[in-house]
Amino acid sequence: MGEYEPTIIAFVCNWCTYTAADLAGTSRLIQAPNMRMIRMMCTGMVDPKYVIKALLEGADGVLVSGCHPGDCHYINGNLKARRRIKLLQQILPKVGFDERRLKMTWIGASEGIDFAATVGAFVSQVKSIGPNALRSQMVL
Ligand code: FES
Repeated sequence: MGEYEPTIIAFVCNWCTYTAADLAGTSRLIQAPNMRMIRMMCTGMVDPKYVIKALLEGADGVLVSGCHPGDCHYINGNLKARRRIKLLQQILPKVGFDERRLKMTWIGASEGIDFAATVGAFVSQVKSIGPNALRSQMVL
């Protein structure tokens, strides 16, 4: 039996982190292959229900990543997202999920190296927590 490989769902902002991911790819940086990326126009569009649904359907971790504070194309969507993610991290243990399964980061469009490093670190963190008990539900 092979080593457990976590599945990470990433909600990324079109303007910053998605572009950084693209840059990491075109720069041929070595990246963990565990991520399923969902491009959003802004992290402010990430409804907490999306995060809960991903975990309930077996994702081992959820990453939300967008523009740095002050750079959001929709003024303060990223700050609203940060507030929601902090609240979710408090709620998750009450419904049986380790709060470390959810992470929010800021990664700008030119930060391909940071993107690859962030994904690698998050995959390692989620690996150390172990698989989501609902993992068998995952269709991806
Ligand atoms: S536009 Fe990137 S987080 Fe809002």
